[in-house]
Amino acid sequence: MKRMQIGLIGCGTVGEGVARILLDQQEILKDRLGMEMVLKKVADTDTKRTRSVTFAEGVFTTDASEILEDPEIDVVVEMVGGTGFAKDTILKAMEQGKHVVTANKKLLALEGNSLFAKAFQKNVTIAYEASVGGCMPIIKTLRENLVANRIFAMTGILNGTCNYILTEITRLGLSFEEALDQAKIKGFAEADPTLDIEGCDAAHKLAIISAIAYGMEIDFEGVYVEGISRIEPLDILYADQFGYRIKLLAISKNHGDSIEARVHPAMIPVDCLLSQVGGSVNALSIFGDCTGEMMLYGHGAGMMPTASAVVADLADIARDMKREDGGRLPALGYPSKNIKKIPV
Ligand code: HSE
Repeated sequence: MKRMQIGLIGCGTVGEGVARILLDQQEILKDRLGMEMVLKKVADTDTKRTRSVTFAEGVFTTDASEILEDPEIDVVVEMVGGTGFAKDTILKAMEQGKHVVTANKKLLALEGNSLFAKAFQKNVTIAYEASVGGCMPIIKTLRENLVANRIFAMTGILNGTCNYILTEITRLGLSFEEALDQAKIKGFAEADPTLDIEGCDAAHKLAIISAIAYGMEIDFEGVYVEGISRIEPLDILYADQFGYRIKLLAISKNHGDSIEARVHPAMIPVDCLLSQVGGSVNALSIFGDCTGEMMLYGHGAGMMPTASAVVADLADIARDMKREDGGRLPALGYPSKNIKKIPV
């Protein structure tokens, strides 16, 4: 059976989730893809962190170059975050002809145009489904499912940390700081949580999806950004009394000759669907000319939901590798060894 060999660089919250899925769901993935996904190496400089995965002898290393220079590794999963080392890692991986999977929305929002151009030139893939909306398939939906549509607008909640903070202040009367601390403990917040609460993280994501939806380059500078750090519990209380919830919204609109893109807190009537989106969940309404309004909803942050999207990207690359080999995918995927008929 064909194998795809994977090198994981960065084994923090999401990286650990990716390793867990690749090790625990190995059989399921093999059944569904007709191909083996092998986690060959994992690199992280943090050797002290307690992780929920145990790696076989020789898999864990503190030296990322062991992955980047390994000719047997087909795909590098960049889970480092930030823009310095992560960018170098992606560039080196592509130089070596390796495909890349990343969840690094900040890097893509700021430098995605040149990175994608490089990937095109090198004939490799940069897959980034996990960069926006955690487990919600936003990238795939916009790029593939809605390919026949002109997208008029998108409105949604794209930051799990802010949504969690606003929800927990409303639900439990926590202070802003208490709710943020919880979001950090649960692994929703960025290493630098000001990116979350000042709205930049949602703006990075909005810049990425606007580029796909409206067919333009990524333009983070063009996004208006205002976070939730000035929202007081009293604002939330008053909004509640008037029948509203405060949410950090990401909105973009296609005006034909220009795009409007903004992230800011907004009051939404409680009976509106987006008002009901609680905790770290994200949601996005997309307005297409053929589809009308459609909405995606799902966990937008946290270890396993985000890792699930990373592995979905790996599966896409595996399918591409199979097709390049002349293989075709059966319409229902590969039959599972444990397949059962529905009893009649
Ligand atoms: N810090 C991000 C959030 C993680 O809270 O949404 C997922 O991108």
